Amino acid sequence: MPPAARTINRTDEKQAAIAPALLAWYDRHHRDLPWRTPPAELRHGNRPDPYHVWLSEIMLQQTGVETVKPYFLKFIGKWPNVLALAAAATEDVMKAWAGLGYYSRARNLKKCADEVAGRLGGIFPSTEAGLKSLPGIGDYTAAAIGAIAFDLRTAVVDGNVERVVARLCAIELPVREAKREIREIVDAMTPADRPGDFAQAMMDLGATICAPRRPACFLCPLRENCTALARGEPERFPVPAIRSEKPRRVGAAFVVVRPDGAILLRRRPETGLLGGMTEVPTTGWTARQDGATGSDAAPFAAGWKHAGAITHVFTHFALELQVYRADPQDLAAPVDYWWSPAGEICDEALPTIMKKAIEAAVPGATKRPHPPKARKA
Ligand code: ADE
Repeated sequence: MPPAARTINRTDEKQAAIAPALLAWYDRHHRDLPWRTPPAELRHGNRPDPYHVWLSEIMLQQTGVETVKPYFLKFIGKWPNVLALAAAATEDVMKAWAGLGYYSRARNLKKCADEVAGRLGGIFPSTEAGLKSLPGIGDYTAAAIGAIAFDLRTAVVDGNVERVVARLCAIELPVREAKREIREIVDAMTPADRPGDFAQAMMDLGATICAPRRPACFLCPLRENCTALARGEPERFPVPAIRSEKPRRVGAAFVVVRPDGAILLRRRPETGLLGGMTEVPTTGWTARQDGATGSDAAPFAAGWKHAGAITHVFTHFALELQVYRADPQDLAAPVDYWWSPAGEICDEALPTIMKKAIEAAVPGATKRPHPPKARKA
């Protein structure tokens, strides 16, 4: 018998009790999030806007709720519907996305908007298969949009949900090895009525009560159903995978500052890491620890001064960049570079690593200038 079936049979009665208990808890304790339609409004027949659900799910793919909130509000303020987003310039979308990371999401977001606005006449597909045919929408996102926007009974499994299920069923495998089993358990638990609320309730439970450390089990609506708690060891689950250290890469970044504070920038190639984003000139980022990290690796001679080192952790490697600054008197921007005026640097499509490099050389340069205070009459 496959392991999932074993788990489900063993806990059949408990399984049936999970959705009602969780939904009753969600009715009272759901998080108010700007992309959500609360349960009371759903009951009055207000459906969520699929554009809002899609936009938030793409942003939430690799980024936490608190970080996403202001970006989501900024996007729906600038582009209130998918047609407006499709009409926007890609460069403006990349700029608005800057700081959220994983920039291929922004490029796919724009491609998806173009496709929905063009091929689909501005209407998002209402099936999982239709959603998955669009750029940037994989299994998880299609399931989440399907359940939340279109009331489809899909199995929505993100990291929070994996932790909740690993504890409920005391799964002894690391999550990475138990993906299929967890998905089958979630599928069996998901009700036909209110599947979108159920999915979001699981996410909220994982984010607020069934936290990675020190879960608040005494507040949990599913404490009667939880095998890990019954065994007195909720924190032992999910069992950790054996981790290998991230490889380290090194390089150098060069910040050129004009006397009026403008900074020399260029665009990264369209494809590859941080593709299409804006950067200060840098060396390649090499895994060789004796790689080029000195000012002699700069793209041109300019009286470079060392301004410190910064680090940034990407998905597959950790990067340390030595940062150099030069203050030439009258340098013309070389081909493919531009001078970004001091007050406009905050609006460039600079990924976090580049903001860190500029801040090391010119503190405060990437921050938005405060508007002048109104004078008292
Ligand atoms: N993470 C991914 N999707 C989410 C949602 N709809 N609500 C809260 N957290 C989420």
